[in-house]
Amino acid sequence: MTQNPVFCALDTPRVQEAAALARSLAGAVGGIKLGLEFFAANGPAGVREVASALPVFLDLKLHDIPNTVAGAVRATLPLGIAMLTLHASGGREMLRQAAAAAAEAGSARPLLLAVTVLTSLDEDAMGELGFAAGVADTARRLAALAQDSGLDGAVCSAHEVAVLRRQCGAGFRLVVPGIRPAGAEADDQRRVMTPAEALAAGADILVIGRPITGAPAPLAAARAILAGISAR
Ligand code: C5P
Repeated sequence: MTQNPVFCALDTPRVQEAAALARSLAGAVGGIKLGLEFFAANGPAGVREVASALPVFLDLKLHDIPNTVAGAVRATLPLGIAMLTLHASGGREMLRQAAAAAAEAGSARPLLLAVTVLTSLDEDAMGELGFAAGVADTARRLAALAQDSGLDGAVCSAHEVAVLRRQCGAGFRLVVPGIRPAGAEADDQRRVMTPAEALAAGADILVIGRPITGAPAPLAAARAILAGISAR
């Protein structure tokens, strides 16, 4: 894993724009997060373009029967990505088979990260789905299941990171979006933390999008974030 904890979220379907931004940010961020929108538009070839500039965190949030998810994980291995997400609610066997598939790449394997409860789901939505335990308990339970099933870490919100760090111990990677440098716009993020606060709470990787991509000078914005982290 790279030393720089910042992965810049490029939420765009445009491959040339993403690749150019990735090239310009090399050295100032640890990697790039690409999501479903990008992957649906550009596929593995698009990922390769960006990955030639920086490590890629591919946020596909896989969720299907174990054999299908294991096959999808295996199919990503030639891309050499750094991190890949799956829904922990796919269950133990899905997670276990995904971890086994990733292990086929040996030391070049991607880290597999669990998505627990989407932040778009509130208590009412969880009840409607039949998750009686509620958001916080379900998220903790799913993180424990993911760890027990051989995953490398989980994506979690800034306000969950301290609890999950205590629960999961050192070595389980916690990847945290919803990060805003002091004084930056929150955009549509409801609860935000600064990079230094999130790292102090136990985060390993910070996913930061618009504070970098929406800045007049993205490279300068990324460097300022890195300087703020280094100074803590
Ligand atoms: O632009 P911003 O920094 O808000 O981008 C955050 C990134 O993290 C986006 O790609 C968003 O989809 C993702 N994310 C999030 N909150 C979650 C999970 C993922 O903001 N709970």
